[in-house]
Formats: sequence, structure tokens, C-alpha cells
Amino acid sequence: MSNRKRILKQGVVILSALAVAFLGVILYTPLPDGMEQPWNLRLYYAKSKLAIITGELCGLFGYRSIHISRYLLDSILLTHGTSINNPYLDVKNVTLDGIPARIYKPKDKHDYLPCFIFIHGGGFVYSIDSYDGVAAKIAQDTNMTVIAVEYRLIPEFPYPAALNDVYRATRFILQNAISLGIDPLKVSIGGDSAGGNTAAAVALKLRDDNIQPKLLGQVLIYPVLQACDLYTPSNLLGTRYLFDGRAFAAEMAVMALGIPDRFRDFIAKGNYSSPELTKKCKRFVNYNYLPHQLIPHGYKRTDITSDPAHEDAKYLEEKYSDPYFVPLMSEILSNLPQTLVVTTQLDHLRDDGIIYHKRLLKAGVKSDWRHLPDSFHGVLTMIGDGGFDAGLTMIDHITTFLKQISFES
Ligand SMILES: *[C@@H]1O[C@H](CO)[C@@H](O)[C@H](O)[C@H]1NC(C)=O
Ligand SMILES: *[C@@H]1O[C@H](CO)[C@@H](O)[C@H](O)[C@H]1NC(C)=O
Ligand SMILES: *[C@@H]1O[C@H](CO)[C@@H](O)[C@H](O)[C@H]1NC(C)=O
Repeated sequence: MSNRKRILKQGVVILSALAVAFLGVILYTPLPDGMEQPWNLRLYYAKSKLAIITGELCGLFGYRSIHISRYLLDSILLTHGTSINNPYLDVKNVTLDGIPARIYKPKDKHDYLPCFIFIHGGGFVYSIDSYDGVAAKIAQDTNMTVIAVEYRLIPEFPYPAALNDVYRATRFILQNAISLGIDPLKVSIGGDSAGGNTAAAVALKLRDDNIQPKLLGQVLIYPVLQACDLYTPSNLLGTRYLFDGRAFAAEMAVMALGIPDRFRDFIAKGNYSSPELTKKCKRFVNYNYLPHQLIPHGYKRTDITSDPAHEDAKYLEEKYSDPYFVPLMSEILSNLPQTLVVTTQLDHLRDDGIIYHKRLLKAGVKSDWRHLPDSFHGVLTMIGDGGFDAGLTMIDHITTFLKQISFES
């Protein structure tokens, strides 16, 4: 063999070994027992990791990594289905008081229909397109009009851009329902993850501003509700199996609030909470509301506080106490629309949703809670080919609740 051929052969062997090792790292995700379709789930995490790594790599060459990751996550990651060619629905792009939105209206329906305002998730980063199939399916399975609001995304438009957009569109729908062919007394709102955060916040703000007519219901799918306690049992579980919840929360906070990079470490290290914020956090993120079996034996609440005079801690204290940013920090949860909370087991945010549900009940709000013990954060969009049964179960929980409050009362 010539020297050149040998080198080439060695090169191929080394490259193949590297590729296998890379695949191994990408595919390696330890999972707790009892998860539905574990290898499918590992594949899903592998694709997310690849999308994020590719984004970061492009970042090195001067592209904005978030744009690349958003494109990849939107286009290849989700097995989400689509509304295109759906024979049961009329789908229209509109603007509502200047806010872009997509209306999914069941065909051949002439009465004033109940309406579900759907606020898509995806960390405030994905676009409305990744949820097109979900919104269409909810419309089709309920015979309600679904309106998906296309709010502005981060990092380009930090808080409160999304809140303001969704608030404005929702108020417009409530107050112009008749001209939209909607029953004004049967308008509900809901969303998943970041969308659940915004839906809950808008419900709070409409209540506080005493906007009439009132929302009929709110649907909160594994919502983001607080940022002060990054050591909840579910956050520790997610950190053990998936990724560091504190580092992720830090990254999200920097993008969502549009604050300087120095906050990233400050939040990730966990020592940012002022004594005042820690006090509030214990009161509102109240572990007494968690079912005993979700708190590991010997678990002790982590409690580290910063210097109260620290300028950055003071800034975060204000943001992390703002109920429109983190609804679980609302002192008063009474007088809110009838609620459905859905949580999954493998989710850093699981406990926040459960505590919100229990606090709503305590405040006299009618609230239901559904928990998917074999599933994970993100499953709502996994309803197409190669998806998960739990995605469909989740849609079923949502549509059952919506039909019940909209048609049976
Ligand atoms: C709505 O806008 C999107 C682009 O954001 C486009 O892909 C889609 O075809 C439009 N839908 C309709 C029904 O016009
Ligand atoms: C929706 O309405 C159509 C037409 O009235 C009906 O055939 C269909 O069964 C309804 N779907 C649901 C889920 O109620
Ligand atoms: C947290 O901050 C306080 C006050 O600045 C400091 O005394 C303490 O050592 C810090 N703890 C950790 C774990 O960094």
C-alpha cells in the first residue's frame, strides 16, 4: 500500500471513530424508569442537541446562533403535523388590533362559536409555525374556533413584548367577539410552556384590569410559572436526567429580560436571590402543596441568599416577583377563569404547575389537574408520525376540558 493510501485509510478510521463517539454522546440520555417509547425520546433529545450545537457552531462563524437553532427546531425537530389541506377547517392569517394571528375555524359552522386562544410554547423562541398542527387539531376535535397569536419572540423582543401582544389580541377578541363570529362569553385562553406562562399572565392582567367580558377558561400545559426556586424536586430530577436546569434558566432569563451576560453566571450559580425574594419564594412556591410521593426521601429545600445590597440581585428581585413575568408570584389567585393544568413527570417545571393548581383551588378557583407520569416536557407537539401517544392523550385532556366548559354549561 502506498503511503498516501495508508494515511487516507487511517484518516477514514479516525473520522469514523469520531463520528461514532459523537453519535454516542448525542444519543446518550439516561432516563428514569417507566418512560413511554424511551428510544424515541432519546432520538428527540439527540435532535434537539444537534440543533443547538449546529446553532452554536454557526455562531462561531458570525451567524446569530439563535436564528439557526430556531430554524432547525421549527423545521426538523417537531413532528407536529400541519393545518394545510385540512378539509374541516378554514385557516386565515389576520391581524387583531395590529397583532398577527392565525384563525382556525371549523367549516360550515354558522353560530357564534366558542373560542380557544392558543399561545404556542417553545421558550419564546420557536415560531407559530411549529404549532400549526396542534392548533388545527384542537379546532377540529372541539368544533371551536382556535386563534393562535403570533407574539414577538426573544431574544429580539424581550419581556414584556410577548405579554403585551397576547394581552392586546385577547382583549380585542373578547371585545369584538361578535364581529369575529365568536360567542363573547365562551372565550378561553391557553398554551404550553412559555405559552402557558403568557396565558396565565394575561388571565391575571385581564382580571386586574377588570376587562369585560371575562375569560371562560385557562389551559396551562407544563407552564413556566416561577424563576426564584431552581431547586424544586422536579428541577433536580430534570437536572439529573436531562440538562442543568439552573444553567438553562439562566440562559432563558438573559434572553427573556434582555439583560447583560454577567447575569448568566450569577443566576446559574444559584446565589442571586435576595433575602426578600427568598422569603416570597418560600411563601408562593409552597412545597406543602406538592404530593408527598413527589418529594424524594431526605430532600431538603436549598436556600441560598445573596447580599441584599447587590445591585443585580435587587434587579432580579423586582423581575422575579412580577406576577406578569412569573404568575406563581401573584399574591392573590382568586377570581380567575376555570383552569386545567397538565404536567408531565420528566420536566423541570412539573412542580410549579402542580403548586399553581393547588393554590388556585385554595383561592376558590375551579381547577383540574392531569398528570402524565410516563411523559416529558415538549410532548404536546409530538403528535405526528414518529410522535408519542402521550401527545395525543394531552390533546385529549385539553379538548375534553374545552368542550366541557364551552358546550355543557
Ligand atoms: C399564513 O402565513 C404563513 C407564513 O407565516 C404561511 O406559510 C401560510 O400559508 C399562511 N396561511 C394562509 C392560510 O394564508
Ligand atoms: C363537528 O361538527 C361536525 C359538523 O356538525 C360534526 O360532524 C362533527 O362530529 C363535530 N365534531 C366534534 C368533535 O364534535
Ligand atoms: C452568596 O452570597 C453571600 C452574600 O454576598 C455570600 O456571603 C456567600 O458566600 C455566597 N454563597 C455562595 C455559595 O456563593
